[in-house]
Order: sequence, then C-alpha cells, then structure tokens
Amino acid sequence: MSEFAKLELDGKTYELPVITGTEGEKAIDIRALRGTTGYVTLDSGYGNTASTFSEITFLDGEQGVLRYRGYPIEQLAEKSSFQEVAYLLNFGKLPSERQFNDWKESINSFSTLPEGDKKIIEAFPTSSHPMGVIVSVVGSLSAYYPEYNIPMLSDEQRRKAIAQLMAQVKTIIPYFYRMTQGLDPVKSKPHKGYTADFLNMMYGAEDYEVNPEVAKALDVLLILHADHEQNCSASTVRLVGSSHANVFASISAGIYALWGQLHGGANQAVLEMLQNIQDNGGDYKKYLEKAKDKNDPFRLMGFGHRVYKNFDPRAKIIKKQCDKVLDVLGVKDPLLDIARGLEEEALKDDYFVERKLYPNVDFYSGIIYQALGIPTNMFTAMFVLGRLPGWLAQWKEMKEDPTSRIGRPRQIYTGKTVRDYVSIDQR
Ligand code: SDX
Repeated sequence: MSEFAKLELDGKTYELPVITGTEGEKAIDIRALRGTTGYVTLDSGYGNTASTFSEITFLDGEQGVLRYRGYPIEQLAEKSSFQEVAYLLNFGKLPSERQFNDWKESINSFSTLPEGDKKIIEAFPTSSHPMGVIVSVVGSLSAYYPEYNIPMLSDEQRRKAIAQLMAQVKTIIPYFYRMTQGLDPVKSKPHKGYTADFLNMMYGAEDYEVNPEVAKALDVLLILHADHEQNCSASTVRLVGSSHANVFASISAGIYALWGQLHGGANQAVLEMLQNIQDNGGDYKKYLEKAKDKNDPFRLMGFGHRVYKNFDPRAKIIKKQCDKVLDVLGVKDPLLDIARGLEEEALKDDYFVERKLYPNVDFYSGIIYQALGIPTNMFTAMFVLGRLPGWLAQWKEMKEDPTSRIGRPRQIYTGKTVRDYVSIDQR
C-alpha cells in the first residue's frame, strides 16, 4: 500500500510519496518538489538527505550495524579476504572458486605501473605527503589508458578498470614509500596474495618473509575500510562520475576528499594526537577537557561520527586486532594505553555521552599501522587502499543506473538584490 507525506504550502496540500528501503528506512521522495511547488529543501551537510538508491552497503548508526551486500562486517572480517570482499562489493555476490580465481588473475595482470608513472612518483620530493603523490598518479592514468576517456564504458571495460586500479594503487603506495627510504622498488609478486604482496613490496628484502598473521591483520583492516555507503569521499566519486568524467578522475576526487582530517585523514591525526599527549606527559584527561572546550579548536580525533550514534562496529574489531598484532609482533605501544584511557574516560563523560560520541574506525587503526612499520603520514594512503573497492562499487552502481543524472544541488541565495554597475571614478 503506497504511503504519502502531506505538505501544506501557500494554502495548497501536496502529497509526497514515501519510499521504504529493504531495511525499513523511510524517505520522503522530493524529486518532483520544485516542479510542483517551486520550493527546494535546505540540508547543509546532507545529514537528512538520501542522494541515491544503493544495494551495496547498509549501516544502522543507532544499532552500530554494518553489512556489505547483506553480509555482517563481523563475519566478513573473520571469514573472508579483502580481494573476495572487493569482488562482493563490485559484483553483488560472493564469488565461486572459478570466479574468484578469474578475479585475482585479472587484478594480477596489472601489477606493474606505466614507466611514465614511475617517473611521476620519482619527480616528487620525498617529503611529499603520500596522498598528494597517489592522487597525482591515479589522475595521470587517464593519459596511459585513453580508452577509458569515454562517457560510458562497457561492462567489460568497467570490470577491467576496477581490477586495474585495485592492482596499481597497491603498487603506487610501496613504490613511493621505498623511494622515501632510499630503497629500490620491489616488484609485485601477486602469487603471495594481495596483502602479503603489498607488504613484500613495502618491506621486501633478501631475508624478508611476510608474517602471515601480520598479512591477515592488514587484510582485516582493509576489509573494514572497504566501503561505508554515501560518506564524503564516496559521494564525491559519484558526483564527479555523474558528469561523465573518466573513472580515474572520479577516484582521484574521492582520494582528495578522503585526505581531510574530518574524514580519512583522521587516522593520521589520531596518532599525532596520541603522540602529542605522550610527549606532554601523558595526561589524556587534560585533552578530554580541551575537546569539550568550545573556545578550543581541539577535537578528539577518531571520535564521533555523522551516522554512528553508537559504537562504530569497525572500531570494536580493530581494537581487538590491536592486542593481537602487538602480541604477534612482541610490541608494547604506550600510545595504545593512552588511547584506551581516553576511550574509557570519554565513554563516562556527559559531554561525549550526550552527543553520542564513540570511537570511530580511525581511533585504533593507526596503532596497528604503526606496529606494521607504516609511517604515520601513510596511514590515510592505507585508507585509500582499503576504500578503493567501495569507491569503485559506488561508481559502477551509478554508471549502471539508467536513471542516473548529473548531480547538481540548488541553493538559497542570500546575496545582494539587483544593482547597477558604478564606474570606478564614481565609487
Ligand atoms: C570517517 O561518513 C563516514 O562514513 C566516514 C567514515 C567512512 O568510513 O567513510 O566513517 C570515515 O571519516 C570517520 C570520522 C573520522 N573523523 C574524525 O574522527 C574527526 C573527529 N570527529 C569529528 O570532527 C566529527 O565527529 C565528525 C566530522 C566525524 C562528524 O561531524 P558532524 O556529524 O558534523 O558532527 P558535529 O560536528 O555536528 O558534532 C556534533 C557535536 C558538536 O558539539 P555541539 O555543537 O552539539 O555542542 O559533537 C561535537 C561537536 O562539537 N563533536 C566533538 C567531536 N565530534 C563531534 N567534540 C569533540 N571531539 C570530537 N571528535
């Protein structure tokens, strides 16, 4: 039975259709609002606005639920692999053995970078932030693969572009990292497995053996970062893709959006915050007070979320992984004790409780990255590697949607009303 919302405007009553999602989420369909009423809606930050239908990821912020194509994140983290999750996100189902082998083969067939892209990486100062390097190289791929510079790719071309980016971003990050360490690049050895191959390209040396437990822990981290419905960077990928810009432009735009400290850049900011607390005596309670002080710009990085008003389910899993990885590596990290202390204090502090501010995906992830030897300024690059299959799935879903239109929000104008030009000698 159809549902409607009634709207009274200027003495008229309008009926707006109500849409219900598969998990019972309700939306008022305003796609005809301006045409029928002349009104637009205002929702700065889009906290109350659904931008699209999507079948990829479901999250319930109140319940702390996250599922990829219906599979709970807890089960995928325990039983799946990052490459399998990437297939699930992009093709909507768990692959058969044959489909999975074909998928891995297609990714492995792109494990080298164009020579020109290696030169682009080498042209960057080693002091560059890795995000600036990655985004430049991803954007430059359109120069080496002009066949993707068309408004609508075929299914086969989309599948190829997805596999290609999964492989090449995995190569770009270690290539730049080793350059910053004065080391030669290590060739990709895809047979090692996606995450082990990444670690080998990062740290490979004659006597280097990838620790399988470390590779598994990183694989879990990548799974947990793989998608998160219409977050800032995924929405950016969709908006840029909606103009028919090529896939490399769309993904580069997503990388730029993720860089911000309020989004993916928070994982680096969390580690810097914890390090700063330790360097200043370790009194984390003082920093909690700073975070609550409206006159202090300091925010507790890694805390709070636009959607989760309960525990971020990813943070729960990552927190457990911290203990495991530090134990496997025999590492004691005092920053983990500070993080735990901050969380414990915040969760019993009215300011955080009233605002439903909990640790998010970025709060503990840096502890693991640091234990794996990844430099702090590369943490957000790791988020790029994890989120890439999600961005690609969101881009693919939009491209396959025959009703997809160019994204073009409206505004409420609050500037000057009409006035005549005055020549400079009259001003
Ligand atoms: C990610 O959207 C996604 O799904 C993102 C992500 C993904 O997987 O793609 O989950 C990844 O980006 C996680 C978030 C990482 N960012 C951080 O950890 C940065 C610190 N967090 C905050 O800046 C903030 O919580 C945001 C940006 C995450 C959310 O911002 P909102 O939804 O705009 O919330 P808000 O700024 O309106 O805050 C509401 C209140 C405010 O206080 P009042 O004005 O009501 O008094 O809560 C306060 C804020 O001042 N607040 C914080 C806080 N976060 C919110 N106060 C102190 N420290 C914080 N971290």
